[in-house]
Amino acid sequence: MTMERSQVESAIMEAVEELLDALDAEMDDELSSATMLVADAEFSSIDFVQLIVLIEEKLGQKIGFQDMLMQDGQYVEDLSIGEVVDFTTQRLNAPVTAGTAVAETVVARQVPVEDRPVITEADVAAFTQLIKPRRIPAADSGAAKNPRAVFILSPPRSGSTLLRVMVAGNPSLFAPPELHLLSYATMDERRADLSSEHSEQLLDGAVRSLMQTRGWSGDQARAFIADCEAQKMGTGAFFGALQEGLGERLLVDKTPTYAFSTDILKQAEACFDDPLYIHLVRHPCGMVRSYEESNLTRMMPLMMQSSQFSMSAVAEMIWLLSNRNILEFSQSVPAQRWFSLSYENIVHDPETQMTQLCEFLGVPYHPDMVNPYSDKKSRMTDGVDSASKMSGDVKFHLHSQIDPAAATRWKQFCSEEMLGQPTRELTDQIDAQVARIRV
Ligand code: A3P
Repeated sequence: MTMERSQVESAIMEAVEELLDALDAEMDDELSSATMLVADAEFSSIDFVQLIVLIEEKLGQKIGFQDMLMQDGQYVEDLSIGEVVDFTTQRLNAPVTAGTAVAETVVARQVPVEDRPVITEADVAAFTQLIKPRRIPAADSGAAKNPRAVFILSPPRSGSTLLRVMVAGNPSLFAPPELHLLSYATMDERRADLSSEHSEQLLDGAVRSLMQTRGWSGDQARAFIADCEAQKMGTGAFFGALQEGLGERLLVDKTPTYAFSTDILKQAEACFDDPLYIHLVRHPCGMVRSYEESNLTRMMPLMMQSSQFSMSAVAEMIWLLSNRNILEFSQSVPAQRWFSLSYENIVHDPETQMTQLCEFLGVPYHPDMVNPYSDKKSRMTDGVDSASKMSGDVKFHLHSQIDPAAATRWKQFCSEEMLGQPTRELTDQIDAQVARIRV
């Protein structure tokens, strides 16, 4: 598709105006090519991603904006509308096929490698105390279990959104955005915990799932969930209601925060009949770098009390604790119900990895699995109310294909030297089990 610069400019202006309207933001000056998106329009990183999704919708194709936001592996600090128009026009008229690197936030906040504190077991013990304890519902040994479901287990920033969307391309599987159900005994408890400004988006995965399985609008799905909350319905029963609409399809729940506690993980065994588990691993440096860039700490009130640790230390300890919990839990699960794979292998050889995964899940492989940017609706990569607000990794939208370069980008900024001894030991243990491609 080729397009005149003036046509591209009007589409982009329209997208900026729509977004400003949606944000209820007012600007002192008229929009023009010279308008700076951060300095003048006061866009945050998430607004940037929303803008990108809106532009791609208007133009009817993926552009691969990661190359615009990232220069020499670092974020640009701001961009004018004119620069976005130039980049987009150039892409439309001379498309490239491979992206190089991605960004989620525009301004990076990082501690230089040499100043990073090295994590010790004492830090890990202190950090563990900060994680909010979970109330475990009393096991009802007489209650019937839900049919089999599949759980993708990983720390955040492990490529779990990409994997979920790939899995969602298989017609035998139903893999919605993060459900955040297993962590709670009842639906009202879930609502109370996730109602803050920063976490309420995490409620949307369940809404989006019901829209898909029952053909409901967002309002209808929300009303159904409100009713479940009013009745104090157990989350197990809600999972069951969701599975009713699936026919033969297997439900796949990827919610990275489940790995914060083995008590949460054990709920999967309590609620489901022979559930299957996929342990998704990523190199800790890649996860830490990704966590720092995405500024996930703003979400953390959800999971922990305030922390005296730096962002990189929090990220490393989340990697460590989540993977420790997953491995400890794996000891109680029969080997035939456990499968491990790595983000690095997925982005380097998606077809082999998805074929092996399908063998494990007992479903036929489908070629759409390696084409995650096709068919947005059925993969639920759109949001409930707006196309750009899928819960999960918003950076998924900046890529236009599976991008192997994203797995090695951390090497420009971090080294394994920055990792604490406990993390290095667990990395070796995991590498021995998963045969991860060394990046
Ligand atoms: P980086 O921040 O290192 O780029 P999660 O979904 O578990 O939060 O993981 C987020 C990571 O998955 C991010 O890593 C993101 O870029 C990466 N990712 C998302 N879509 C991708 C794609 N199409 N190809 C490669 N990596 C992708």
